[in-house]
Amino acid sequence: MTANKALTVCSFITFAAFPAQPAGAQSSGQEVYNAYCMECHQANGTGVPNMQPSLKKSKKALGDPAPLIKFVLKGSADLDPSETIYSNIMPGHDFLSDSELAAVLTFIRQSFGNNAPLVSEAAVRAARAQP
Ligand code: HEC
Repeated sequence: MTANKALTVCSFITFAAFPAQPAGAQSSGQEVYNAYCMECHQANGTGVPNMQPSLKKSKKALGDPAPLIKFVLKGSADLDPSETIYSNIMPGHDFLSDSELAAVLTFIRQSFGNNAPLVSEAAVRAARAQP
């Protein structure tokens, strides 16, 4: 393959990974995802059977933002142990900033074939202020 062809292929792949999305919020959401969520939920959001759930069409991921934010802040500790069927435990992510959480939650709601409204920083701030 010539260097030129390789370059064309590379730029196509880069482009395909970020379909029709403006640079900015969305890519930083993906960066947060890659750093803190991907090892468990996988690059394409499928999770791993019996270990951690898929985020595709997940009711919790796509539903009301307030319980979703609270869950991601606290992790599995937010759940009654009898509610979970997964062998892994999700850690709390309260160390992430309001803007990082808003970005990553917006990312998972608008990726993997999902299409739910964005999560705002204000919503994260409000959920964090809850006991
Ligand atoms: C160490 C593995 C691990 C990491 C890291 C992790 N999760 Fe999870 N996640 C889980 C497990 C396990 C569950 C299931 C919780 C349970 O039932 O206890 C879960 C559940 C979820 C759910 C609910 C899905 C559903 O339909 O029930 C969402 C949404 C979610 N995680 C988002 C995230 C986000 C966003 C991040 C990164 C900020 C993240 N997770 C990082 C393991 C992980």
